[in-house]
Amino acid sequence: MKKTRVLQAALITCSLVFSAASHAGGASGAMLGNTCAGCHGTNGVSNGPAAPTIAGIDYDYMVEAMEEFKAGERNATIMTRIAKGYTDAEIEAMSEFFAGKKYVKAMQKYDAAAAKRGAKLHKKYCKNCHGDTGISTDKDDDSGVLGGQWKPYLNYTFADLKDGKRSMGKKMKKKMKNLQKAKGDAGVADLIEYYASQQ
Ligand code: HEC
Ligand code: HEC
Repeated sequence: MKKTRVLQAALITCSLVFSAASHAGGASGAMLGNTCAGCHGTNGVSNGPAAPTIAGIDYDYMVEAMEEFKAGERNATIMTRIAKGYTDAEIEAMSEFFAGKKYVKAMQKYDAAAAKRGAKLHKKYCKNCHGDTGISTDKDDDSGVLGGQWKPYLNYTFADLKDGKRSMGKKMKKKMKNLQKAKGDAGVADLIEYYASQQ
């Protein structure tokens, strides 16, 4: 309960900062991108826990994510509202800005034994599209960054994927199904610990 309220308060504070700054108008990717810092951190390196790090994000992946938020096609607590405030050109400019920043992995606690199990699962089911450690260096993958991403963000992202609140490609869907069949929810929990162990 208390945690939820703290998180909500943090989100509200962030959105106030955000709306005050968003009236700049006619701004560059950097100027627009700086208004996201209240939640996503300086240059997109999030201090966690709910907002993901978007520094070093794949350009195409980010454009698509923002368009999905804008269209209400991707489940979100806050981003659907925020994304509506930007034109396609502004989204492209911001995506270029964040794609050019250096990704910094989150320092967070994790369970070493679970991470070890998760590493095996990642190799078996997810590595082809998400890279060796959940950070794909292949620009064609457009698959988002999992390794070193904040755990709370990963937790609710996996929950959204499972509940069908967030769509996924056919191939990933099949892998997730196979993982679920083999390991159940414990498999997902192990994967999350593995991603969190990337530091
Ligand atoms: C009030 C806090 C807040 C502000 C301000 C904010 N974000 Fe977000 N952002 C979030 C949260 C929380 C999520 C996770 C989705 C959700 O629940 O809305 C997210 C998710 C995202 C994602 C998806 C990342 C991924 O890996 O899939 C992108 C891209 C993004 N935000 C871009 C932006 C940009 C660009 C701005 C500034 C114009 C911005 N955000 C401002 C909180 C915020
Ligand atoms: C065939 C390629 C492919 C495979 C295999 C795959 N994924 Fe994905 N994954 C993607 C793509 C592409 C996206 C981005 C889709 C989108 O949200 O638009 C994605 C997105 C995600 C996201 C959301 C990322 C974010 O930043 O919000 C998570 C979590 C995820 N995948 C986990 C997994 C896990 C766990 C596995 C293994 C069980 C897996 N994926 C297997 C291609 C794949």
